[in-house]
Amino acid sequence: MSNLIESLPADWYYSPEIFRKESTRIFERNWCFICPEAELAESGQYITSDISGQSIVICRDQSHQLRGYLNVCRHRASPVCIKRTGKLTRFTCPYHAWSYNLDGQLLNAPGFDRNFDKTRYSLFPIRVATWNSLVFVCLDAECQGLNEWLGGVVKLTEQFPAVADMEFHVRLSNTFPANWKNYSDNSAEGYHLATIHRDLSRSLMPEIRITAHEDGKYVGFEVVNRESGSPGYWAYKFPGLLMHFGEGSFNVERIWPLEVNQSRTDRWFWFRPEIDDRERTETIRFSNQVMQEDIDICTRVQENLQAGHYDRGVLSPEREPGTVFFQSCVRQALEDG
Ligand code: FES
Ligand SMILES: [Fe+2]
Repeated sequence: MSNLIESLPADWYYSPEIFRKESTRIFERNWCFICPEAELAESGQYITSDISGQSIVICRDQSHQLRGYLNVCRHRASPVCIKRTGKLTRFTCPYHAWSYNLDGQLLNAPGFDRNFDKTRYSLFPIRVATWNSLVFVCLDAECQGLNEWLGGVVKLTEQFPAVADMEFHVRLSNTFPANWKNYSDNSAEGYHLATIHRDLSRSLMPEIRITAHEDGKYVGFEVVNRESGSPGYWAYKFPGLLMHFGEGSFNVERIWPLEVNQSRTDRWFWFRPEIDDRERTETIRFSNQVMQEDIDICTRVQENLQAGHYDRGVLSPEREPGTVFFQSCVRQALEDG
């Protein structure tokens, strides 16, 4: 084995300072998946979310355009929307009732002088874009467009059914006590498949092609189901997006940092209409099993990383190229400033 690579220092997985840097240099500089577009189908529908602690709101405005804003009132910083989702014709801040159009303009500042220049206090806009009926946002004005950012994923997954041709089934969220990079290290490699995911491994043909594209910002896993012979494609996209494409189903998983040693995975599932309830239930049961196997091992890894004796390990470019690339993307983002 040649060219072994040192892994990231253990303290990067529990240092609050590194965590803060990652928020601004990684999560605020990339596109983040927020929700299926169907959740914002009608004018006035909105959804709130957050990106590394910054509350945001995305809505469909009166002219049917998707808009995104920091969920921050320009008066004294209250969130303008408190609920996770809803439908409205204007945003009215709960604190002192300033109200904004769905296109972000300040309409009314009760009690303020008539000459107060409302045009200077619109909501702060953020970028919103869609691909494959999925809504993404980006806090960075400099970041490339969504399709460019998705890169090869767009072309390589055209052979699978589009989200628009499937039925949305369920969203599931799980919180776990590990750093987001710990879970991403795992998600970007197939080296652990035979040991951690025995049932998954048995269900697949042994030849799994894993290819890192675009300097590892995107890793593709080409798999074939052993029983049905049907192909599947798993895509990992830096920093925390996983997509599983199949002939009858699709799911998106978002790895979401909560705290330095606390993360959440959110999964959304779609199925082709002809996939019956029994098969849907089984797909989700199996996905839960695989996710839990990853969470269990990542939780144990996190405990050892934090215990203070292990400093750093070593990675094989042959066995775990996705993780090598993932860690180099993290390093680059933190070191580039
Ligand atoms: S903070 Fe929104 S109206 Fe005062
Ligand atoms: Fe795994």
